Amino acid sequence: MPPVIGLDFGTTNSAIALAESGKEATLASFGDGLNTTTSFRSILYFPPKDRTSTIKAETKAGPDAINSYLDADTKGRLVLSVKSYLGSRLFTSTQINGRYYTLENLIAIILRRLRTTVIEQSGVDANSVVLGRPVRFAGAETEADETLALNRLRTAANLAGFSEVTFELEPVAAAYQYETQLDHDELVLIGDFGGGTSDFTLAQLGPGRKRTGGNPVVGTSGVAIAGDTFDSRIMMNLVAPKLGLGSHYVSLGKELPVPVWLYSQLSSWHRTFLLKDPKTMAVLREVKTQASEPDKVKALIQIISENLGYALYRAVESTKVELTAKEDAGFVFAHGAVNIEDTLERWRFESWIQEDIQNIATCVKTLFSQHNVNYADIGSVFLTGGSSFVPYVRRFFAKTFGSHKLRGGEELTTVAKGLALRALENA
Ligand SMILES: Nc1ncnc2c1ncn2[C@@H]1O[C@H](COP(=O)(O)OP(=O)(O)OP(=O)(O)O)[C@@H](O)[C@H]1O
Ligand SMILES: [Mg+2]
Repeated sequence: MPPVIGLDFGTTNSAIALAESGKEATLASFGDGLNTTTSFRSILYFPPKDRTSTIKAETKAGPDAINSYLDADTKGRLVLSVKSYLGSRLFTSTQINGRYYTLENLIAIILRRLRTTVIEQSGVDANSVVLGRPVRFAGAETEADETLALNRLRTAANLAGFSEVTFELEPVAAAYQYETQLDHDELVLIGDFGGGTSDFTLAQLGPGRKRTGGNPVVGTSGVAIAGDTFDSRIMMNLVAPKLGLGSHYVSLGKELPVPVWLYSQLSSWHRTFLLKDPKTMAVLREVKTQASEPDKVKALIQIISENLGYALYRAVESTKVELTAKEDAGFVFAHGAVNIEDTLERWRFESWIQEDIQNIATCVKTLFSQHNVNYADIGSVFLTGGSSFVPYVRRFFAKTFGSHKLRGGEELTTVAKGLALRALENA
């Protein structure tokens, strides 16, 4: 039987894995400058239109997108965290370089790159795939929104060339991969903390389950709070005030606060690229001419008009990541005339994400009470996904279950491997 495919389309990182009977799941790898990587940033880059040339610049995805953007003197459009739109009816399409792209079109570009890479590297035909999905999609408020998100994701996968798509919940996939490490049967809590969502599953795993091939899932839950939310707390509390949030401007003789929505848009990475529309830019220019602190608003305009949203995201993310290893971290953003520097202490960051951690904790507690499971029944807690590194997240699980029960590893690729293993059980 040829190898089967699992694809984890993540808000921040994606990965694609192959599984064959009796072997460990393996990952496709992608060129990144002189290096290779198995985790593919879920990013698109549209180079600026060259009006002197009739040749259309190629749209880039993943590491190529980042590198092309960083190399460009005049920056084109980067599109980040596009998965976060799946559950939202507000986004249907966007115009880039004079062409309309539906959400499905944008996602398909990423999925197609993953698919062609796996075909090149393994020779499989890649017609069918087990595709991951969060328990709850970001932006989905109703069951109808969840269905919309799933249908959009299926359409994107079809457009990318996968004619047969089976979905599996991301934390359930993580359970299948974690199970390969278990030498005894136990009840496990899996927590997958990504960029867009935090997802949980209670699963009965181990050699016994594997032998029977039975369904390991006791229950699942999820919440759209994860790494992007933590970034947005840093944006709103540390960065936005330096770009004019909290200051005022005068309109028709009245003093008004600079609109908060400009900053909340800026702090959602998937929405930053929408700020550049002509109406928003007109609002910003009007605010700047009448602002109490025009230089701050000018810096905001510069970030938007020069497409520096990604650079800002990187600065915020690297401060957050540094706070995982250290008690305090620097924040530096220096591009053109915009120069912002500050330090952030971990305790201050933790005070900004306290409510988010509480909401994540509630999601876990509800899962246990819904299925009548006690914390003491849990043999181990497997934490995966990039945001599982955040100390405050780990602390909650260590306190609740005991630090000796915490397991982790392969944070960015566990889900993809587990999806491939799931595909193997389906085959
Ligand atoms: N050392 C670290 N400390 C804190 N956060 C980190 C660290 N490393 C990665 N992250 C965060 O992890 C997130 C990405 O994790 P991951 O790749 O698991 O998400 P994803 O699978 O793309 O998202 P989702 O599963 O929600 O769709 C980002 O928000 C990133 O900033
Ligand atoms: Mg993920």
